[in-house]
Amino acid sequence: MPRAHFAQPQLQLLMNALCRLVPALMQRATFIAATLLAPVAITAGEVEVLHYWTSGGEAKSVAELQVLMARRGHTWKDFTVAGGGGGKAMEVLKARVLAGQPPAAALIKGPTIQEWAELKALTHLDTMASFEKWDEVLPKVVADVMKHKGHYVAVPVNVHRVNWLWANTEVLRKAGVAAAPNSYDAFFAAADRIKAAGYIALAHGGQDWQDFTLFESIALGVGGADFYDKALVKLDRASLIGEDMRKVLQTFRRMKPYVDSQSSGRDWNATTDLVIRGKAGFQFMGDWAKGEFLAAGQTPGKEFICLSAPGTEQAYTFNVDSFAMFQLKGWEAQKAQGYLAYLLMGQEFQEKFNLRKGSIPVRLGLDMDKFDDCAKRSSQDFVRSAKTGALLPSVAHGMAVPPAAQAALRAAVAEFWNNDTITPQHTLAKLALVAAARAKQAL
Ligand code: BGC
Repeated sequence: MPRAHFAQPQLQLLMNALCRLVPALMQRATFIAATLLAPVAITAGEVEVLHYWTSGGEAKSVAELQVLMARRGHTWKDFTVAGGGGGKAMEVLKARVLAGQPPAAALIKGPTIQEWAELKALTHLDTMASFEKWDEVLPKVVADVMKHKGHYVAVPVNVHRVNWLWANTEVLRKAGVAAAPNSYDAFFAAADRIKAAGYIALAHGGQDWQDFTLFESIALGVGGADFYDKALVKLDRASLIGEDMRKVLQTFRRMKPYVDSQSSGRDWNATTDLVIRGKAGFQFMGDWAKGEFLAAGQTPGKEFICLSAPGTEQAYTFNVDSFAMFQLKGWEAQKAQGYLAYLLMGQEFQEKFNLRKGSIPVRLGLDMDKFDDCAKRSSQDFVRSAKTGALLPSVAHGMAVPPAAQAALRAAVAEFWNNDTITPQHTLAKLALVAAARAKQAL
């Protein structure tokens, strides 16, 4: 193995991989280490990780990772920037990198990974990826997002499904809602009953990313998978401003009378808490919400249920959390970073973490026995929707379009939600501007 082929960080990633998973090769790994790394002391390092997992369920999930890092002697330095959806965290990250002090890893998703890689800020993880066979154990749709020009630069930890509707079973029972609403007619009929029974029908936190989370599930349910893909992923002008989009906006606005007066600015987890405590009937949210129900000691099928958002049973909007690894200077730091990357893709972590986070493991072929019915369904639907073309990236959660385009869509939708005097026509005109800018590659 010629020495010149490996940069030191890559070599260490390789060592870690060898020493963990293939005990039979340990002697060989030790030999390579002794030969090529003789002057370097192998001790534990510190790993600073930027993330925004600060809610009850999220914090419990991160704790699993901290325990696994500590087991190997590495120190975890938490760099949390609160704010659901991660908008604030991305701003803070930019400031840190510009100041020449990147964290070892940051929770970055989708096309944003490409932007950081273009700036040459990220480390290549190819040696580990090839040793650990990431191409084989990851769905291609995910692996592609983790790569920049064919090089792995980020590590995926899960798959969140976004097109869920959560419901409190007791509230439904008391309001006389017998069947799960699988269309918007059924949803509004159920919401009327819940409201009449004195509950908040729809728990919604009025923040732009939550508005868009609701909006994209409605777009998928009202317009269908093909429409969603053309309008919101490809930003095709005709679809973005056509009749289907008008219907989507109208349905979106119909939600407003079912939301409580305290909604504006409320965090997503405080909003989920309304459903958990039986104050509200429904919430549209990705399955990180399930992490909150679980952290509160509740069980799916008992105190709460997971339903696909109306009209979206056959489709799946995915949101993959991933950690991009930044280029670091110190050897100890690089080593701890390599171990983190190794750990994140490991079976033990993927199981323990996702059992708490509400998501499913991103590694293919993991045993789902310990997972609840919502997760099992998510896992089956992920595979099924991939075959039918109904597996779609979540726009609200940064998986579909570059950040500037996402921000423009989000602003148009939030404006429509927050101001009842704005007509669908006005918002369609804004969406036309987004399509035009995208066509000119200006977004
Ligand atoms: C992230 C989740 C997170 C949620 C709330 C989503 O965009 O993918 O991991 O729990 O936002 O912050």
